Amino acid sequence: MTSRFHLIASMLLAAYAGICGATDATVTVHVEADHPGPKIDRNIFGQFAEHLGAGIYGGVWVGRDSPIPNVRGIRSDVVAALRALKVPNVRWPGGCFADEYHWRNGIGPEDKRRSTLNANWGGAVEPNSFGTHEFMDFIEQIGAEAYVSVNVGSGTPREAADWLEYMTAPTAIDSGKERVANGHPEPYRVRFLGIGNESWGCGGAMTPEYYVSQLRIFSRYVRNYNPSQAGEAAMRRIAVGPDGGSTDYTEAVMRAWREKVWSWDIEGLSLHSYTVGVWPPRHPSTDFGEGEYAFMLKQTLAMDGLISKHTAIMDRYDPDKKIALVVDEWGAWLAPLPGSNPHFLVQQNSLRDAILASLNLNIFARHADRVRMANIAQMVNVLQAMIMTDGPRMVLTPTYHAFRMYVPFQDSTLLPVHGDAGIYAFGDSSLPRTDMIAARDARGSVWLAITNLDPNRSVTLRAAITGMRPVEAIGEVLTAQRVDAVNTFQRADLVVPRPFRSGARDGLLALDIPAKSLVVIQVIE
Ligand code: AHR
Repeated sequence: MTSRFHLIASMLLAAYAGICGATDATVTVHVEADHPGPKIDRNIFGQFAEHLGAGIYGGVWVGRDSPIPNVRGIRSDVVAALRALKVPNVRWPGGCFADEYHWRNGIGPEDKRRSTLNANWGGAVEPNSFGTHEFMDFIEQIGAEAYVSVNVGSGTPREAADWLEYMTAPTAIDSGKERVANGHPEPYRVRFLGIGNESWGCGGAMTPEYYVSQLRIFSRYVRNYNPSQAGEAAMRRIAVGPDGGSTDYTEAVMRAWREKVWSWDIEGLSLHSYTVGVWPPRHPSTDFGEGEYAFMLKQTLAMDGLISKHTAIMDRYDPDKKIALVVDEWGAWLAPLPGSNPHFLVQQNSLRDAILASLNLNIFARHADRVRMANIAQMVNVLQAMIMTDGPRMVLTPTYHAFRMYVPFQDSTLLPVHGDAGIYAFGDSSLPRTDMIAARDARGSVWLAITNLDPNRSVTLRAAITGMRPVEAIGEVLTAQRVDAVNTFQRADLVVPRPFRSGARDGLLALDIPAKSLVVIQVIE
């Protein structure tokens, strides 16, 4: 039955191509709506908020007495914007910062908190005004889950265990009582626990074997006591994993997991991989041309091979795919904006970033059976941010809009897509012209996300969808005049989604996808 549908779809496509005359800017695809794949876990749309530059202070936290509208010190404009993204989880407090963070500095009366130095990020003064309670308040305001990274590098298992106990223990014991005294009777929910950060680098430059010995101990003793987190809701522990293509951590952690004894466990392995080009980052985030555009997109597409490489190793140790690959730092890492503090990792965010984000999200979705969580770096004011702020001003970046357009894909079911993506070539770079995923949401609607990488030519995309006779497609398109177009505080509307609507002919969707654009549509029968 299935193959007959495929045949019919192919015949329809062939007939349509005959009528219209295929050009090289025409792409034909076939969506197998009757072959549901894995779930696209909503956690792949996760965020990362580190104490770094204005990522927290200024970007999220303005303080209770600020003239900037806030709720208990957390800025309301940022909260409202993030709510629209349905952010599934926020990773905090770092990053490299996490392995030097001592949680006790960030609890208790604000005027009594110790200030410290943020040694990783420019030696900035860390007032510790934004600590555990403020983070938990923030994620509750935006409706997200907590992904807390504990300090393995300069901390101890006891410090980390005490932190989790403080956050999750019942009020019958002293740590719970202390939390109550600081204003929160209910145990907090900690859905995800990061056991260290980049332990191969800023997190202690540990050999894989040394890290594994730490992992066993932290995994055992850093417990979650929240009674509501039993069974399916249990905290998931994420081990440090590979740095890009290096496989030593992947092998060591997965081997240890396969050979583990009953007393410890993990549920995820982290992968960090940025789209950088060269290190240290020197590709500009503004005023670049097509060469830079094509180069960075080609670089970002390497994420697919990286995930396949680590997945192949994980499959050897874990054929049942119990351990998730968690890409908890990804995104474009570009040259610091001229005039900004280079330690604060401030960069602009252009249409190119939105396209780059869509390509990564599509890659994660296509690997949904293994990649069940990801966190773009970072949420506000740092690297490939969703939001940029300047005092009371806030602007939503093109990447923000891409994330907002992908909301229907959260917890949807991936559908296979076949077809010829076409080719976009620039200089030595040859890239697919189009990239696409399809999925069915919980209400049964089919959604397509289509990216046209070609900055010069629109693409006519013809889509046959097995088991459906579409009449139209309704959604949004994100594009701009130039690939380096950005939104600024003065002109916040240069790269914003616009309505998109297209018809169908003879049961096939016929979509004109503008050059350098992302289109997300719902298929209407
Ligand atoms: O996101 C910035 C930094 O990049 C993080 O702190 C670190 O984990 C990574 O190297």
